[in-house]
Amino acid sequence: MSAIVNEINELRKQKNAIILAHYYQVPEIQDIADYVGDSLGLAQQAAQTNADIIVFAGVHFMAETAKILNPHKKVVLPDLEAGCSLAASAPEDDFRAFLQKYPDHKVISYINCTAAVKTMSDVICTSGNAVQIVESYPKDAKLIFAPDKNLGGYINRLTGRDMILWDGTCEVHDILSTEAVIKLKTDNPDAKLIAHPECKATVLELADFVGSTTALLNFTKKDTSQKYIVATETGILHKMQQASPEKSFLIVPSDETCSCNDCPYMKLNTMEKLLNALKNEQPAIELPEDVIEKAKIPIERMLEISAKMGLIK
Ligand code: 13P
Ligand code: SF4
Repeated sequence: MSAIVNEINELRKQKNAIILAHYYQVPEIQDIADYVGDSLGLAQQAAQTNADIIVFAGVHFMAETAKILNPHKKVVLPDLEAGCSLAASAPEDDFRAFLQKYPDHKVISYINCTAAVKTMSDVICTSGNAVQIVESYPKDAKLIFAPDKNLGGYINRLTGRDMILWDGTCEVHDILSTEAVIKLKTDNPDAKLIAHPECKATVLELADFVGSTTALLNFTKKDTSQKYIVATETGILHKMQQASPEKSFLIVPSDETCSCNDCPYMKLNTMEKLLNALKNEQPAIELPEDVIEKAKIPIERMLEISAKMGLIK
């Protein structure tokens, strides 16, 4: 075992710390984490943990969510610059002004948003429960879905709704190439296309299966195909390959020159930064008390609905 792994292991025991990691983290971080999951699983783990310190190997909005659910615990993010293009697409003041145009609408916000946007939302959702959260409202309910227009559009098409969409996208998924998907499908007729719902509609329409990172991983474990064309961030391939070493996975590129779809924010976290965060208990996430109080309501509503629908235990 490397020195850095030893040091992390000793410190996490000493400090009663838990390491939560998203699937888009580099393999070494996924391998050392206490839990690796999608945004829903990570929020649930954060809500249930008895640890004193949460080291969040993910991006800022995820660590913020963990802090909102654990205001009295220390939550550290290895690199504070680990943001998200979706969260950045909805600045607080612009979002408030947008909502003022639709005073009679309920607001469903994807978890990839800032704590400030969460305070203005009725309920939060993730890609793992978005359909069920939307369907928890009556068919004729007036709804706003923010900030991911690709996920919102996908749910509109799936459920026959007409939610008003905020104009945000994930800069990693939105640029995955439809032409590349068509070519990969033609060259590999035996492969199934699996896609994350943050991809654009032209990619999703071609997919055999659409789901959150956990849902995509579970699909490849249970499905009988031997080959998959994967339209999402590269990090998920680590767990897919570990779970099904006999299967092959072809990642959908953003264009012909690049076959890697790394989220530049997720990949800011490194083992060295993780060790420093655990050692120094910095950089820590801090939020005003009133923001925590207000943002907690729609997150807890999401967890309640998800538990009721059997999406989490
Ligand atoms: P999930 O892991 O919840 O599917 O989200 C994907 C993502 O882009 C996280 O930022
Ligand atoms: Fe945000 Fe996209 Fe990166 Fe996820 S993959 S953190 S949605 S930019």
